[in-house]
Amino acid sequence: MKLLLCERRLYMALLFNFFVITGFADTPGKATGLQCEHLVNPIGIDAKHPRLSWLLMDERHGAAQTAYQLIVGTDSVGVINGKSDSWQTTKVVSSVNLVSYQGKPLQPFTKYYWRVLLWDQAGKKLTSSAIASFETGMMDMRNWKGSWISDNKGIAVNPAPYFRHTFKVARQIRSARAYIAVAGLYELYINGQKIGNHRLDPMYTRFDRRTLYVAYDVTAQLQSGKNAIGVLLGNGWYNHQSTAVWYFHQAPWRGRPTFCMDLRITYTDGSVETITSNTQWKTSLSPVVFNSIYTAEHYDARKEQPGWNTPSFIDTAWKQVINRSAPSQNIVAQSLQPIRNVEEIAAKSVTKIDNNLWVFDIGRNISGVSKITVKGDSGTVIRLKHAERLNKNGHVDQSNIDLHYRPTDDKDPFQTDIFILNGKGEEVFMPKFNYKGFQYVEVSSSKPVELNKESLKAYFMHSDVAPIGTINSSNKTINQIWSATNNSYLSNLFGYPTDCPQREKNGWTGDAHIASETGLYNFDAITIYEKWLADHRDEQQPNGVLPSIIPTDGWGYEWGNGPDWTSTIAIIPWNIYLFYGDSKLLADSYTSIEKYVNHIDELYPSGLTTWGLGDWVPVKSVSPVELTSSVYYYTDASILAKAAKILGKQADFVKYSALANKIKNAINIKYLNTQTGIYGKGLQTELSVPLYWDVVPQNLKSKVAANLAQRVAADNYHLDVGILGAKAILSALSDNGYSDVAYKIASQETFPSWGWWMVNGATTLYENWKIDAKSDISLNHIMFGEIGAWLYKGIAGIHTDPDHPGFKNILLQPHFVAGLNEFMATHDGPYGKIISSWQRNDHGITYRVTIPANSTATITLPAGKTYLGGKLITGSGPYQTAAGSYIFEVK
Ligand code: BGC
Repeated sequence: MKLLLCERRLYMALLFNFFVITGFADTPGKATGLQCEHLVNPIGIDAKHPRLSWLLMDERHGAAQTAYQLIVGTDSVGVINGKSDSWQTTKVVSSVNLVSYQGKPLQPFTKYYWRVLLWDQAGKKLTSSAIASFETGMMDMRNWKGSWISDNKGIAVNPAPYFRHTFKVARQIRSARAYIAVAGLYELYINGQKIGNHRLDPMYTRFDRRTLYVAYDVTAQLQSGKNAIGVLLGNGWYNHQSTAVWYFHQAPWRGRPTFCMDLRITYTDGSVETITSNTQWKTSLSPVVFNSIYTAEHYDARKEQPGWNTPSFIDTAWKQVINRSAPSQNIVAQSLQPIRNVEEIAAKSVTKIDNNLWVFDIGRNISGVSKITVKGDSGTVIRLKHAERLNKNGHVDQSNIDLHYRPTDDKDPFQTDIFILNGKGEEVFMPKFNYKGFQYVEVSSSKPVELNKESLKAYFMHSDVAPIGTINSSNKTINQIWSATNNSYLSNLFGYPTDCPQREKNGWTGDAHIASETGLYNFDAITIYEKWLADHRDEQQPNGVLPSIIPTDGWGYEWGNGPDWTSTIAIIPWNIYLFYGDSKLLADSYTSIEKYVNHIDELYPSGLTTWGLGDWVPVKSVSPVELTSSVYYYTDASILAKAAKILGKQADFVKYSALANKIKNAINIKYLNTQTGIYGKGLQTELSVPLYWDVVPQNLKSKVAANLAQRVAADNYHLDVGILGAKAILSALSDNGYSDVAYKIASQETFPSWGWWMVNGATTLYENWKIDAKSDISLNHIMFGEIGAWLYKGIAGIHTDPDHPGFKNILLQPHFVAGLNEFMATHDGPYGKIISSWQRNDHGITYRVTIPANSTATITLPAGKTYLGGKLITGSGPYQTAAGSYIFEVK
């Protein structure tokens, strides 16, 4: 039905072909961007019905896909020739570009090739896509051959263990794959070479419920004759030795790191040999003498064993490994964008404080590590203390970030790496199993060494999600806010979203749902959210309750986990559906959302709930927790109802629509004065939150919005909100006729505002509006990050359409806000690049838009005279348009 409607809209748009088209192209399009499970040519896929997606690259006006055909097979030549041994669809009349595999059951350890054929708007067959591939992994836990092994040491032992194993290759290798599952962290080496460029693998999960394995193509690293595998294990969150207020040192899963590995070699004669982890492996302690994901890493270069991971190394002094039980009964592929050292950053300056003390400034706040290159005597102790700010005497100041740390002695200093030199010339150190949040590094040395600006480099680490959005405006501060928002978003993405990269590294739920739209406009982050929602399912109690931080050792089931935070369970799958048009996460999360909503319903049958933290870190005014929490509860119930409809659960749709209505009415009866259009006392948060989350009765929306605009004016166009209000206020204004007011707040440069942080030198977003606050003052928090999404929504006007998700139809409603001369936003959605850009000129506004092939847009422009190609067109829209580029003049 939906599709038909879409096709009809397209036809109408073609019929009313009065738009000015720029760059009219004539070249037929092509399918590109082939992905499997939202990854490019992945290996190690466990999904039985992996999702295949593509996009039509076609610049012709009205370009659209009218049909597709998929060919999937194990023989690449066959697939090229249109023959498939796995799955071949017929020509399917449809414009969808995301289809899950429905062919013969997929076999483990098998590479599948695929391509897609498309038919365009004229019914003409386009040139085939290039060939893409995906490769299955274990698919079933029973396919593991190796044993879980470790050294025979306890959780209190500090040095990280090395493991090695040698084996002979006598035949010719066709291909080889390494599969490694780890509780803890690891680095894998074959014949001395590090495998892959991932960092901090595998991602953090609740290890006793789900353990991840990573697959690599290691064909190139193997050689004929003797080969050596080396594994170094780090603690990560599995063996948290540092002590802080969240008790991760008491996690129920805690153990000495352990791993299981299968190296599967396929020879040219077709035979297969699997080299496995077993008791023939040997182990020894490494020079990584201490490692904590939370605090830092200590490395004693005097303990290095050169060549430990090469075949010729003599390991007679090494010990036997022991078998261990598997950490969980659920070992699954890590199908997501890995963490990497994404950016190298040179030091901007170095200040020598005295003979043995330097402070490096890398010029911006990041999450990641520093790498030092230094020469000195054996036994020289170099300490690298990382912080976000300096104190008056020029030393680094950690007082804003170390306050929840509870060290038991001075051996594990906060965010301070310790590097002991071996004296053998120039030495380099970069931690392997830790990251930090910092801008400054204070380096001290126990003996004289020479350092200069080049001695230290920093690496911005995060889940390496592709950037897919850009903002550029004539307001420098707005541009800075956008970039700082992205910096904080990425600094808080490590296989799960976190609150801050220094003080906590916790998967705070509230921060994450607030930032999810910002993330999705700017980054291709679906794989991270899908993994994190699996973490939610692992953590949910049978009664539906979720903890406030996910994953967790158990902390957070008793505090901070009301619907204003843990609505992640509904909001994130819903946003993924809106941005990607992919309902899998919604379907996977459905039962969890339902359990959660039912639980609140049982506890709070009136529809009002006081469960929650409320408008966290407010400027000054405090809004009632019951109002904000009930609005989030309403949001969950309505997402559940919408999901029920999408997933064909009609009875649930009726049931939860009624529940949502009940909650909405309860909120409005208690908090809304229908005469005045004011909620509660009429504070910014009290008015914004019901507006943004669609609780306000239709007939009172404009009244409530007018009250909000007045409230903001009375607050001198400055914010008076905490994080829940900050999520809502900008769109509450711009969606209801007050975009100029929203922009005034968004572009403020005096306290309290995002711009206030920028003019004070911020390169990330902060936790507190007050820069000199005494508490809650991390300098790299994403919880005020909604502004990054609002720039797309409230100024460029790029909105998802819930009826045609994944930007299949784009709702475009730009606001040419007073005080801004130019604005441009681009977003690479599932159909391609959307551009919405405007410019003020002598006569008014020139508005340019690009709608990617196979999608449409509903364009609504501000009232005024609108011209297309010099022709006056009536009204401000909405105009239903087909793919292509258009220029409007609005006078
Ligand atoms: C975190 C926040 C989080 C909050 C919940 C803080 O310590 O850093 O970002 O949402 O606690 O209360």
